[in-house]
Amino acid sequence: MAFNFDQYVERRHTDSDKWHKYEGKEILPLWVADSDFKSPPAVIEALQARVAQGVFGYGYPSPELIDIFIQRMKQRYNWEVQPEWLVFLPGLVCGLNLSVRALTTPEQGTIAPHPIYPPFMKSARLANRTQVSAPVKLQNKRWVLDLDATEPQLSGHEKLLLLCNPQNPGGTVYRREELLAQLDFAQRHNLVVCSDEIHCDLLLEQGLEHIPFASLSEDAAQRSVTLMAPSKTFNIAGLGASIAIIPNATLRHRFIEARMGIVPSVDILAYVAATAAYKDGDVWLAEQLDYLRANRDLVMEKINAIPGLKLMPVEATYMAWIDASALPITNPHAFFEEAGVGLSPGSDFGNPHFVRLNFACHRSVLEQALERMKKAAVDLLATE
Ligand SMILES: Cc1ncc(COP(=O)(O)O)c(C=O)c1O
Repeated sequence: MAFNFDQYVERRHTDSDKWHKYEGKEILPLWVADSDFKSPPAVIEALQARVAQGVFGYGYPSPELIDIFIQRMKQRYNWEVQPEWLVFLPGLVCGLNLSVRALTTPEQGTIAPHPIYPPFMKSARLANRTQVSAPVKLQNKRWVLDLDATEPQLSGHEKLLLLCNPQNPGGTVYRREELLAQLDFAQRHNLVVCSDEIHCDLLLEQGLEHIPFASLSEDAAQRSVTLMAPSKTFNIAGLGASIAIIPNATLRHRFIEARMGIVPSVDILAYVAATAAYKDGDVWLAEQLDYLRANRDLVMEKINAIPGLKLMPVEATYMAWIDASALPITNPHAFFEEAGVGLSPGSDFGNPHFVRLNFACHRSVLEQALERMKKAAVDLLATE
């Protein structure tokens, strides 16, 4: 192992949103989706060199970054991306919001998976657009999008299908035939697709592959906006560098118009970090995935041994979507917070009987959290 993921990194008092929330309290923060690992040394060194240069004017995406990203798409997905398709953004959520505002009119609606990462729901609300919930259901122990159940809900005014692959929460990696069914649905209903693929580098289940929606066919490319970022993969989310890939010139033009004067350009340090991460971070990434896989296995084993809790296999992401509906409580988030574990409330994602646990942390923190959760559930059930 060239990198030590088992080195504890102190994040208290470092302006971390995740750790600040429970500062001074005996609560372990396993909520918001950033990891507790240091970024790859190559990223840290590149940032240090750039800071030492000392001038921080406006930046632009360098030809090197564009080239590295295009190579990455070719090597990983056999997807030929053209440089002019790329629109750099200071975050991925703004790409979701821009897609809703730029690619639908006020009379048109959106469709999004449910449960889902909360900004998907907010993006429609904030833009005053309707949203049809496409249920994500359990099938053979996987959380998958149920488009048959979505069909009868449509009014005919929907224009934009928001997708999340890998799915957050749930950790699903969609297979080619599932993506083709999503494409068929988009074609039949004449929809543009915005595919959030921020977790595409975080595949934990061996043998699975990430397939960008837009790489399915020329038609998929022409009707889609793909959103990707190095932020989750290399733990540089606080710097903010994301990429929208928009092959269709008309959609791209509308997207760029919608951002004008509102969305700032990407921070120059974020460009430096993104370039170093994509260029020199892949050995580090492979080792991070090994550590995450072992954490995932631990979470699977321990959670499923706790009475009242259930967790399906997590194929990707570092988030566990835990079903607490068998516990005799109405608010599992508050219950586990009281027990010293700060999780994300399932209600934020659309199901109050669930909690989401971020396992991208030091193993000892995870072990402690799982122990606290077990004790809380066992004690509760003993008093019933
Ligand atoms: C599916 C998904 N999209 C987007 C984001 C966040 O993107 P950003 O912080 O770049 O706006 C997250 C973070 O958890 C996520 O899980």
